[in-house]
Amino acid sequence: MSANPRQEFFDTLAAGWEDRNSTPETRDRLPAVIRAFRLQPGIRVLDVGCGTGVLFPYLREAVGTAGQILALDSSAEMLKWAAAKTAARVVTLHAPAEAIPLMDGCLDAVVCFCAFPHFRDTAQVAREFHRLLRPGGSAVVARPGTRDEINAHHDRHTAIAGDHMACPVGMRTMFTAAGFTRAHPDGRPGRCLFRTEKGKR
Ligand SMILES: C[S@@+](CC[C@H](N)C(=O)[O-])C[C@H]1O[C@@H](n2cnc3c(N)ncnc32)[C@H](O)[C@@H]1O
Repeated sequence: MSANPRQEFFDTLAAGWEDRNSTPETRDRLPAVIRAFRLQPGIRVLDVGCGTGVLFPYLREAVGTAGQILALDSSAEMLKWAAAKTAARVVTLHAPAEAIPLMDGCLDAVVCFCAFPHFRDTAQVAREFHRLLRPGGSAVVARPGTRDEINAHHDRHTAIAGDHMACPVGMRTMFTAAGFTRAHPDGRPGRCLFRTEKGKR
């Protein structure tokens, strides 16, 4: 267990995380969310803040057998469950999203599902996404629910109170400052989804 209260919060919640958080309705909505990520077969993708790996089967389906999936989380407890999902053939990394131990330009896509507002330094994480992506690569930050619902949900828990999802303009500003050139906020009701691309040189 960690001395960091937010980390301790997620470590403690790891056992049974998906049973508590993935209702049948949430699972039914996941394929549409993953399609909006626009992942192509054969690419190398990193799932940042992967938790217990709820996305793994969907990511494997999207990138196919030729694709590579890496997944990162700062909670060792969450990663234990993620690493047990061997069928998805995912390489797991125990590290903070603010300092990802991978080489510059080594990824085609980065996805971040239900995790972005929890990062200690979101601007630094956006810079890490930009560093890791090849030119033309894409980053997606997504979460089911409206921004108000998400922010209110986080505020009900002391350890993650104030972990708020930025508004679309705030996301665009942060990712533009990190070097991204194209932003595609998705305003569909019932979900927050922000997709952005690293410019081709
Ligand atoms: C709400 S959970 C979402 C997990 C998973 N993506 C899902 O949808 O079930 C947020 C995750 O972000 C991780 N996390 C929080 N801060 C982090 C950081 N700075 N670096 C990496 N992971 C972090 C937590 O450990 C937790 O597993």
